[in-house]
Amino acid sequence: MNVQEICNQIKEKIDSVKTIQELNNIKVEYLGKNGIITELQSKIKEISNEEKKEYGMKVNEVRTYFNNLYEEKNKSLEEELLNQKLENEKIDITLPATKVRVGAPNILECIVEEVEELLMSMGYDVVDGPEVEEDRFNFELLNIPKGHPARDAQDTFYLKDDEILLRSQTSPVQARVMLSKEGKEPIRMICPGKTYRRDDDDATHSHQFMQIEGLLVDKDISLSDLKGTFDVIAKKLFGEDCVTRFRPSYYQFTEPSVETDISCFNCHGKGCNICKNTGWITVAGAGIVHPNVLKNCGYDPEVWTGFAFGFGAERLAMLKYGINDIRTFYNTDLRESITFDRKEAE
Ligand code: DAH
Repeated sequence: MNVQEICNQIKEKIDSVKTIQELNNIKVEYLGKNGIITELQSKIKEISNEEKKEYGMKVNEVRTYFNNLYEEKNKSLEEELLNQKLENEKIDITLPATKVRVGAPNILECIVEEVEELLMSMGYDVVDGPEVEEDRFNFELLNIPKGHPARDAQDTFYLKDDEILLRSQTSPVQARVMLSKEGKEPIRMICPGKTYRRDDDDATHSHQFMQIEGLLVDKDISLSDLKGTFDVIAKKLFGEDCVTRFRPSYYQFTEPSVETDISCFNCHGKGCNICKNTGWITVAGAGIVHPNVLKNCGYDPEVWTGFAFGFGAERLAMLKYGINDIRTFYNTDLRESITFDRKEAE
């Protein structure tokens, strides 16, 4: 056996190898079941005793030579592969970062939360009521009997006969809360919620909109309590220099009834396009709870008095954030959504 020759062959083959797969094929060629070195090894049986030792050493020499070369080549091929991979998957850190679209709270919700927080700090509970409502709560208990012309003003979605409807206002929650207290306790509650009317949708009307109802029932409550409450709300939402005024109005469930105006936060009374040059902006309907409503809902009007109010939530948000179309709140157009650079977001 010519060790040198075999080793030269091995070196030549391994040197010419380009891939790990090829290298492994050579391994099989030499060390596999019928491999060249394996065969040399098995021939040892045929070798005479005197020559066995030397023959064995030669085979081992070849095997060691092969193994060393193999390991070396394997290592360098693996390294090459890794480098290639790193090169291919290289990240160009000089590329500008992708912009991330971050969600932002709906500003309608923001307004509602602001009003909720303020009124909760004044001792009001936030309550909920059903959007699918009975005619009784939406109208009758609120002093609007069947056939009353005031029902026409609120084009109502009726769901079943004349009894089940989509509430056209959040005022029915007043009746629900009063009835649940059985005429025994003072009440301070607000109820923000969706309401529905058969309006054609335009920039200031939507068939679905949101109101924030408020009700306070206690003893010796007067219009001045309502005024004071409104002053606080107006200052909180529109700034310390905001003042309020009441104008006489008419609602069936309040007597007297008022329209509540705030001084225009934009022009401070001078007149601008937001306040239509009047210096004032109407934000809510309100009044002293009608004795009939108290009576209908289990409160003795000789003992209890109260005030109620109803804000249009979209109107508040539109005024506060300068939005000029109510439909903006309800479509899914994301063009207005805020886009941040990642850097900015952090
Ligand atoms: N429910 C009235 C509406 O939808 C708003 C309103 C006015 C609510 C006066 C009240 C109130 O509680 O006292 O136009």
